[in-house]
Amino acid sequence: MGIKKKVLMVGMFIVTLNQAVSNRNLACNCNLHARKCRFNMELYKLSGRKSGGVCLNCRHNTAGRYCHYCKEGYYRDITQEITHRKACTACDCHPVGSSGEICNQTTGQCPCKDGVTGLTCNRCMKGYHQSNSPIAPCIRTLIEPVSTPPQTPPDSEGTGGPCPNCKDSSRSITQRKYCKKEFAIQAHILSRENMGEWVKFTINVMTIFKKGQTRMRRGDLALYVSKKNLACKCPKMRLNRYYLILGNTNNKETRLVIDEKSVVIPWQDDWSRRIRKYQRKERRSEC
Ligand SMILES: *[C@@H]1O[C@H](CO)[C@@H](O)[C@H](O)[C@H]1NC(C)=O
Repeated sequence: MGIKKKVLMVGMFIVTLNQAVSNRNLACNCNLHARKCRFNMELYKLSGRKSGGVCLNCRHNTAGRYCHYCKEGYYRDITQEITHRKACTACDCHPVGSSGEICNQTTGQCPCKDGVTGLTCNRCMKGYHQSNSPIAPCIRTLIEPVSTPPQTPPDSEGTGGPCPNCKDSSRSITQRKYCKKEFAIQAHILSRENMGEWVKFTINVMTIFKKGQTRMRRGDLALYVSKKNLACKCPKMRLNRYYLILGNTNNKETRLVIDEKSVVIPWQDDWSRRIRKYQRKERRSEC
């Protein structure tokens, strides 16, 4: 009884590569990464009785029926032949920038956190800058005066709806409000310009009390308020006046957008001391 017959009868057994080749069992091409393969009757039948081999114990960090791709945690080094011992190389995912250690087995691309890019997730995307936080190592950059309005529509309800409630946020400053906002600045309103649904104010940032993760800098900066909010005096901003502005950055925007949740109050001379007091409390974690 020939070996082939025996194979068919027994269904599944292990042959060495040499036996397989002499058998004309085409299945056992293991790309030089395995010494043994197993015969699988189902696969043999499915292949039209051409090949039924499954490589066993793929080495050199390979995987698959023919040891033809890289196992989890490794990727294909395309400078090497698939038969090369170093055909698969370990993922090199950056410990801070990556959200995991397993890269794409073909490309080596690591899974990056928001705002992070690069094969190993070692760089911030355009429009992002490095932060001190390992959770969000790259954060949106608030950019300098730009001439295009924000990307997100000003208000999903359109311009006809009732005014948002912003009375509380625009009247006075308290420690609590100060603590809750990401940035706090004193600014001089220099000019205003209509831009579709938006009004762009050019402001001069005079004092930065806190800047959170924003890249706020002293000097001129563009600030956007939706027309609807302005019509509602939410906030009320007049040219050539000085304001205390407290707000949070919108993750979707690189522009500085002021809305009903922001605090915009006409500047008063005695406020510097008051805000310095808030600053000290915040530093002592008394927020
Ligand atoms: C790996 O990257 C390739 C090419 O970009 C892509 O087609 C494939 O779906 C990726 N694999 C996984 C598991 O994400």
